[in-house]
This record gives sequence, structure tokens and C-alpha cells, in this order.
Amino acid sequence: MNPVKTIAVLGCGSRGRIYSTIAAGMPEKFRVVAACDPVAERTAYVQEKSGHEGFQKFADAEAFFAAGRLADALIIGTQDTHHYEQCRRALDLGYDVLLEKPIAPTHDQVLALAEQAARLGRKVIVCHVLRYAPFYMAMRDIIASGEIGEIVNFEAMEGVEPWHMAHSFVRGHWARPHLASPTIVAKSCHDMDMLAWVMDRPCEAVSAFGSLSRFTEKHAPAGAPARCTDGCPAGDTCFYNAVKYTGEMGRRWLGMVYDRAADAPASEILEWLKTSPWGRCAYRCDNTAPDHISASLRFSGEVTGTFTLSAFEFGRHYAFYGTKGVLRGGPAYRKATGADILVQPHGGGEPRRVVIPTPTSGHGGGDLGIVNALYDELTGRGDGRTCIAVSVQSHAMAFAAEHSRLTGKTVEIRDNRF
Ligand SMILES: NC(=O)c1ccc[n+]([C@@H]2O[C@H](COP(=O)([O-])OP(=O)(O)OC[C@H]3O[C@@H](n4cnc5c(N)ncnc54)[C@H](O)[C@@H]3O)[C@@H](O)[C@H]2O)c1
Repeated sequence: MNPVKTIAVLGCGSRGRIYSTIAAGMPEKFRVVAACDPVAERTAYVQEKSGHEGFQKFADAEAFFAAGRLADALIIGTQDTHHYEQCRRALDLGYDVLLEKPIAPTHDQVLALAEQAARLGRKVIVCHVLRYAPFYMAMRDIIASGEIGEIVNFEAMEGVEPWHMAHSFVRGHWARPHLASPTIVAKSCHDMDMLAWVMDRPCEAVSAFGSLSRFTEKHAPAGAPARCTDGCPAGDTCFYNAVKYTGEMGRRWLGMVYDRAADAPASEILEWLKTSPWGRCAYRCDNTAPDHISASLRFSGEVTGTFTLSAFEFGRHYAFYGTKGVLRGGPAYRKATGADILVQPHGGGEPRRVVIPTPTSGHGGGDLGIVNALYDELTGRGDGRTCIAVSVQSHAMAFAAEHSRLTGKTVEIRDNRF
């Protein structure tokens, strides 16, 4: 008989609700018993999904922690700057933790949490969800199988997408990295983690460039007011017109920051945009997050590669160059060829095409995968794939890249702190 594990949720925003909804849908594995968020509708949402009779709701983290340990595991889905303190307190109380990425906004805090988890013998599973997504698992398996031989070098692209960039890194939560976390840590810890996982060898050094170059006032359309709702002369043609939040595509993004996004009439959303950060002209915000980053990485064994983050590409894609062939994969290839992964042997012939079935949860199926993995970890059957001791290594790559971008120097990772 498999034990049912109890779950509490701290931070019931976009991510907290996704994980708790998935967990609540697996009554044979989980019971969601408590939630904490200052926004009452959000804890009510988790309670409704949970259906647990003795469900406890908290409006602030102090009261939540004062209540002691309420469950086997705690999902921490708050914003980046809360992670360190909340995870530290949760571990002290005896929780195992499912911790949203990034682990914390500074390298010192990341290392401190890893040390604390190890010292107390507690599990901290970091939400590097891509390691549980079928596309990435297939890519890693092919490389590990030796089909393309030894990897000599690679190219990795993180296409943030223009609207996502504007929503999250220009108008939104991660627009000012000093109040959240460095962009390459916030967004690309996934990418660094994927490379660390696929390469399966230590990253030794990194050199990075990048800046904010497009989402700045000098690129604003002539006569653009501070807010899109103030009658912008470029409103009809501007890709970033915030009025699009009233349309179908916009509402999907709006749902991450405005709870009534699905039901609100357009007039309500337009009114909200008049004062909300998401109503601002995308060229006239207080953002400082870079909109493009290019990094060179050196792994052990003289394997090298490049990583690019761009606001202006769509989705992640990869090329791994091996001694026996080349693996290419990602949404761009899917769009062009119908296959998610193409494995091209040297010397010609047709590439082997790998098609991944359409995933049933976000992040290419990784959101569902990590909730299942949480259960496995809590019941001693996990493989520790995204435990904090593993994740600190790829976080170090991201912090090193940011250090390099800011200092203009090539950074050796070793045991350094950034
Ligand atoms: N794994 C991924 O791929 C992925 C994707 C997106 C975001 N994230 C990360 O997930 C985290 C949450 O992102 P989100 O988009 O869900 O944010 P969000 O703003 O939607 O959710 C955060 C929630 O925390 C609540 N909150 C604020 N202060 C609190 C406190 N002191 N105690 C308890 N709750 C509090 C807020 O009211 C909000 O509901 C971030 O760290 C983000 O970087 C991860």
C-alpha cells in the first residue's frame, strides 16, 4: 500500500496553483492540506481543488510558520526573493520542500540552503521541470546512448518570445533583476541545468555578454504615451500594445497576474491596465533586465558550446555536434520538419526523426513530471534528479555567467562564489 503524502502550499500564485492542482488530482498520492497566500481568492482556489475537510488557510507566512509543520512537504511557489528565508524556515520545521526555481537570488544563499538541507537530511527538490519533460528526457537519452558519439561542441538557444519578454522581463516581476534575481538565473537556470544534465560533466568556465538594448525609451514609437490605454498613436501596429491583454492570447498571460483574467469583461481589464504595471508602454518602463545574452561555456574534456538568450526567438532549441553525428531539436525543428529531434549521422543518409507526443501539462509535460517525482522522492523511490545538491551546480553556471556579463571577464567556476 503506497502512503498518501500531505502537502502544504506557500505562495498560491501561478506556479503554486499549478502544482497544487496537479497534486490534488492524484488522491492516491497526495492530500493538499494547507495553503498560505495574502490573496484570499488564491488560498480559496487551492482549498477548492483540495477538497480536504480540515484544510487550513493562512494569509501570511508568519502565521503559517508559527503553526508548525502541517504536512510532509511544502511547495514554495512565492517570488524569488522569498525563497531563501522561507525554505530555510521550512527545513528547520522539518518539511521536505518542492522549491520553485531559482533556488535563491544570490549564490551565497543557494549554497547556504544546500548546506542546510544536507546537514538536516531533508529533501529540497528544485523545480527544474524540464528534466521531467519527455522532449528533454529523449534528447538526453539519445546523447547518453552514444548515437552521435562524443559531444565536441553545442549551440543552445533560449527564445524567450517577444510578448513573454515584455510581460515578464519588461513590465513584470523579473524586469528589475536587483528586486528579483539576475535574468540568466531567473530564466536560464533551466538552460544551464539542461546543459549540465545533458553534458553530464562539469562546466569549468563561462564568458558572457548581453544587455538591454531594445525595450528602452529611445525605441518608443513617436508620441507614445506612458500607458497604452492613453491613446497611443502606434496602438494599431505596436506588437506590445497592452490592450491586447483583452484578447485571447493576452488573457492567457494576464491569468498569471490578474486572477479574473478569464471572466472579466474587456472594460474591466482596460480599467485595470490604467494603473497596473502591465498597462505601461513596453518602451517606457523602469526595466533593466537584459533582452539578449550570449555566453560561451567550457566543460571538462575541452567540450565547448554557446548559449544564447533572445527576446526575439520562439522557444528553446539545440544542436549537439558529436563525433558520429549531429542532434538537433526543439520547437523550431518541430515547426520546420514535424519532428522534435533530428539525429543526423555523419556521412549522409536520412536523419532519424523523433516525434514526442503532445504533452498534457505545462513545460512540455515537466509540471506533471515533477509532481510525480516529488512523490517518488518523498517515498524513497526518487532518483534525486533535481535535488538541491544537483541543482547548485547549474545555478553556479548561471551566477558565473552573470558575473562574467557584468565584469567582462571569463569566469572559472571551480569552487568559486559569485
Ligand atoms: N519552474 C518554472 O519553470 C517557473 C516558471 C515560472 C515561474 N517560476 C518561479 O516560480 C515562482 C513564483 O512565480 P509565479 O509566477 O507563480 O509568481 P506569482 O506572483 O504568481 O505567485 C507568487 C504568490 O506568492 C504570494 N505571496 C507574496 N508574498 C507572500 C508571502 N510572504 N507568503 C506567502 N505567499 C506570498 C503572492 O500573493 C502570489 O500569489 C518564482 O520564483 C518564479 O521565478 C518558475
